[in-house]
Amino acid sequence: YHKIGIIGAMVEEIELLHKHVEKTGSFVKAGIEYVEGTLHGRQVVFCKSGVGKVNAAVCTQLLVDAGVECVLFTGVAGAVDPSLNIGDIVVSTSCMQHDMDVTALGFARGQIPFQDVWEFEAAPDLVELATNAAEKLFPGRSAKGKVLSGDQFVSSRETVKALHDELNGACTEMEGAALAQVCVMNDVPFVVIRSMSDKADGSAHVNFAEFTVQASVNSHSIIDEMIQHM
Ligand code: ADE
Repeated sequence: YHKIGIIGAMVEEIELLHKHVEKTGSFVKAGIEYVEGTLHGRQVVFCKSGVGKVNAAVCTQLLVDAGVECVLFTGVAGAVDPSLNIGDIVVSTSCMQHDMDVTALGFARGQIPFQDVWEFEAAPDLVELATNAAEKLFPGRSAKGKVLSGDQFVSSRETVKALHDELNGACTEMEGAALAQVCVMNDVPFVVIRSMSDKADGSAHVNFAEFTVQASVNSHSIIDEMIQHM
């Protein structure tokens, strides 16, 4: 990969890139700043997308149009797999929109009507690089799995249980599946890396406030490590 795109949604998720990337330029499109530079000698373009699927989709397409050859996401998520603890890492094997719901018309939960594919597969080589980085930096504290995205902050035990039991999710967040869908539409490889800021339950808002900075640091450290092996 000659040019690597990196997206984070919030300032906590992206500020370490501002610190560590040697900047060579920047441009603004659709009100978002894209920063170009090098990280460990690799050419990167990164941006803060803002929260939610629309913001993530626009940024991903603009990164693809800027010529990136893969897209990485770094950030925090709510744990859905009950074996995950706060701070642990999830590497996406696939991403799906949990809030896409046309079940009333007979479509499966998460299915985008009239489309064959609605669970978007991450690139196996990027999954392996991220998993190796996660196991090196956080041994025994990472999992590969399905990342579930929706335009909602999940904060109830019932909802998070349904995301696990019905959709077999590993974690839930608000951007990954949008990035994934845009990457698949453009035939560009991607992987989403998330560190758990909360457990998407009744305590999620409190835990999110307390642990987002640390989880963002954890996720960034995976990107930093994997880029050295790309
Ligand atoms: N990002 C971090 N925690 C989250 C949650 N519980 N729901 C949605 N997005 C999140």
